[in-house]
Amino acid sequence: MRHLSGLGAGLILVAGMAALALSGETGGEARPPFEPVSKVHDLMEINGDFSVTLRKEAAKENPDYKKVGEAARVIAEIGNVVQYHQPASEAQWWRLAGGLKQSGMEVDAAAAAQDPNALRQAIGKLGASCKACHDIYRKD
Ligand code: HEC
Repeated sequence: MRHLSGLGAGLILVAGMAALALSGETGGEARPPFEPVSKVHDLMEINGDFSVTLRKEAAKENPDYKKVGEAARVIAEIGNVVQYHQPASEAQWWRLAGGLKQSGMEVDAAAAAQDPNALRQAIGKLGASCKACHDIYRKD
């Protein structure tokens, strides 16, 4: 021990702190993998409802931007989540779902900026991202 270098002692200290952090914050457990619970269909019903909200608000002279932002973030989160509803090998699906997330976030940004033109444009782009996926994956 007497010959332990400063670096060695430092490494032991860091390792000890990491072990403490692990046991303290997570109980040493690994975060579980994401597993979908809902069906795509159920989430799409929400997408449909919130898209109506977006279009209604955007058509108003004074849109409720807070409501628009909330709806846009839920749609974006649905895009996020549905990426996991197909196997990772289905790259086309998660790209389209990622596109939904991205365009939902752009609607949110336009709402945060309270910019009616940017909002209409972003909602148009969002609608295109819905259609792009439906053209390929929606079979009804
Ligand atoms: C990543 C692909 C994807 C994206 C993006 C997507 N959808 Fe869908 N959507 C689907 C699929 C697949 C179905 C059919 C699901 C089923 O019925 O099992 C569907 C079905 C629907 C339905 C029909 C649900 C019902 O009651 O039968 C609505 C409404 C809907 N989507 C709205 C939207 C809206 C609005 C957006 C964009 C804001 C959107 N979707 C974006 C894949 C997508």
